[in-house]
Amino acid sequence: MNESVFQEALREIQSRRIRAEAENERRYAEINAKIPPIAEINAQLALTSTRIVEILRGGEDVQDRLEALRRQNEQGQQISARLLVENGYPADYLDMHYTCEKCQDTGYSGGSLCDCLRRRIAAAGIARMNRTAQLKLCDFSGFSLEYYKNRTSPDGEDCYTAMKKVFNGCLHYAETFSLASPSLLFYGSSGLGKTHLSLSIAKAVIDKGYDVIYDSVINLLGQVEKEHFGRGDADADTLSLLLEADLLILDDLGAEFTTPFYVSTVYNIINTRLNRGLPTIISTNLDIASIHQSYEERIVSRLFAVYECYHFIGADIRLLKKKSSPARF
Ligand SMILES: Nc1ncnc2c1ncn2[C@@H]1O[C@H](COP(=O)(O)OP(=O)(O)O)[C@@H](O)[C@H]1O
Ligand SMILES: [Mg+2]
Ligand SMILES: [Zn+2]
Repeated sequence: MNESVFQEALREIQSRRIRAEAENERRYAEINAKIPPIAEINAQLALTSTRIVEILRGGEDVQDRLEALRRQNEQGQQISARLLVENGYPADYLDMHYTCEKCQDTGYSGGSLCDCLRRRIAAAGIARMNRTAQLKLCDFSGFSLEYYKNRTSPDGEDCYTAMKKVFNGCLHYAETFSLASPSLLFYGSSGLGKTHLSLSIAKAVIDKGYDVIYDSVINLLGQVEKEHFGRGDADADTLSLLLEADLLILDDLGAEFTTPFYVSTVYNIINTRLNRGLPTIISTNLDIASIHQSYEERIVSRLFAVYECYHFIGADIRLLKKKSSPARF
């Protein structure tokens, strides 16, 4: 883990605690000024520790007197809550309200890092990765179905009809995304919009507040490999981020040179995320036969049996756009 990322995440969590405490003080001041009987109760409650010390010093009937003090405080709190409600406030208005109740915004719970701090650290790592991936986010509005009109695939399928289904499927996927969403496989030759639709989904899902990692398989595996063989940032843990992101988008599977390390890492990612029930989107320019050649049966069978498959068909849109743009002199 990167030290500065850790420190920054911890500072963010602890500033939540400072904000919660400041807000709590503000509420006390507000209510003490507005509702004098509560101010009186609060003044009594504030004396509790002094009175405990007195009782302990006195040394007589300690248990009984502590019990009486406890009951008195409890009554005071009940009255205070009732008065709050009578004055139009929530009964817990004067309680501390932390963003994370589990660690009370300290970042630590039960002697280890709290989930809220872990999530913050992961989010920082993901933001950094997407920056380096130069995530230029396409969106659905820039996607036109015109390019697929009046074309038939070699299998005799109407491209427009098929791609309309693909487009609507992606739109629906993005709109209804949750951690329970299925994994998707985009396959078909290059220039048909696989990257464009992957990025459109990425953008929509990021906007919903999920942690999304998008990059090409080459870049991501290169990063994992560097760290694995000790040549990367010693604290970086890209593999963990890939295994834990809410949505992982691996673009261009099959464009990489398949070493045993890459094949086993891809398998590990696909398998671990399936086991954790986390959605993944993989796109590839390879056809089914070529995927079979590059990757082992155990990977291919998961991709086609468990992932929802979207077959992209049509003509290379990069070329179509070039042809239709006016010639430049
Ligand atoms: N349906 C579409 N409408 C508009 N532009 C598209 C469409 N499909 C692809 N493009 C554009 O064509 C180029 C190639 O598309 P891309 O998504 O990279 O294809 P693939 O990933 O399938 O190889 C990109 O600039 C992309 O924005
Ligand atoms: Mg692509
Ligand atoms: Zn926490």
